[in-house]
Amino acid sequence: MKKEYGVIGYPIGHSMSPLMHNDALEQLEINAIYQAMQVEPSELEAKVNELKKKAFAGFNITVPHKVAMMKYLDEIDEVAKAIGAVNTAVLSNGKYKGYNTDGLGFVKGIEEQFESLQGKNILLIGAGGACRAIYYTLSSLGIEDIDIANRTVEKAEQLKNACIYPVHSEVLSLKEAEQKIGKYDMIVNTTTVGMSPLTNAKPLSLKGMKKNAIVADIIYNPLETLFLKEAKQHGARVQNGLAMFGYQGAIAFELWNGKKPDVERMIHIVEQQLNRKV
Ligand code: ATR
Repeated sequence: MKKEYGVIGYPIGHSMSPLMHNDALEQLEINAIYQAMQVEPSELEAKVNELKKKAFAGFNITVPHKVAMMKYLDEIDEVAKAIGAVNTAVLSNGKYKGYNTDGLGFVKGIEEQFESLQGKNILLIGAGGACRAIYYTLSSLGIEDIDIANRTVEKAEQLKNACIYPVHSEVLSLKEAEQKIGKYDMIVNTTTVGMSPLTNAKPLSLKGMKKNAIVADIIYNPLETLFLKEAKQHGARVQNGLAMFGYQGAIAFELWNGKKPDVERMIHIVEQQLNRKV
């Protein structure tokens, strides 16, 4: 029987996940389809029950359901619990287990392209859901030197205080982070600053950054934000948000199918589609 996978969100029309997953399923000759499912918040519980009845093999969860979905799943992975949000559900013995592959997707994207992050000095900019996933995943992996800078400093403070893993974190304003920028081996923008259509903005100045540091932006629309442009001018090794998107999908795919998809191909397919739209 053909297995069914999908992504639940609201709205869901722009999701690149079906394109990426259906290609990977085809490549590995797995008899399954992956579809986009638009579900309003008030219909979430009914949808999960419907999927369980159908023995739907697994699904991704995207905005705005990543937090709310937790209460409808039967079990939650430890790191996802710490993050407080899920983006992947896997059916096993009639029960759904929730995971969060966003943070690990980010870490894998960086470590595959560059180097291990163990022992590095890291600056995360932001304090929203994406930052939370990356911060808690890094610290769950024993990567401890992570400062957080955010426009609203109290939100970064809350993030730090709620972290259940050992961390040495300083909470900074964006201005304070600029003054310390030379300290970091990796700097990550997890905010929405620079995202289309407001592309003429960046979260902070990188002036004085360590040459050859890694600078990553989780935005992939545009593919090169003003932040990454500036980073390149300072000699940084850069990565845009497509790697995180591709790897979070690849990790979910492997949880569902037990097989590793070609993640480079997944990223390339999404990139091609984005370029077509420009
Ligand atoms: P997500 O869940 O995708 O991470 P979010 O929870 O809305 O998104 O978080 C957005 C992040 O972008 C926050 O860190 C936000 O800063 P505040 O906590 O101060 O709101 C940051 N952000 C959004 N617009 C910004 C701007 N114009 N300048 C600086 N930071 C901004």
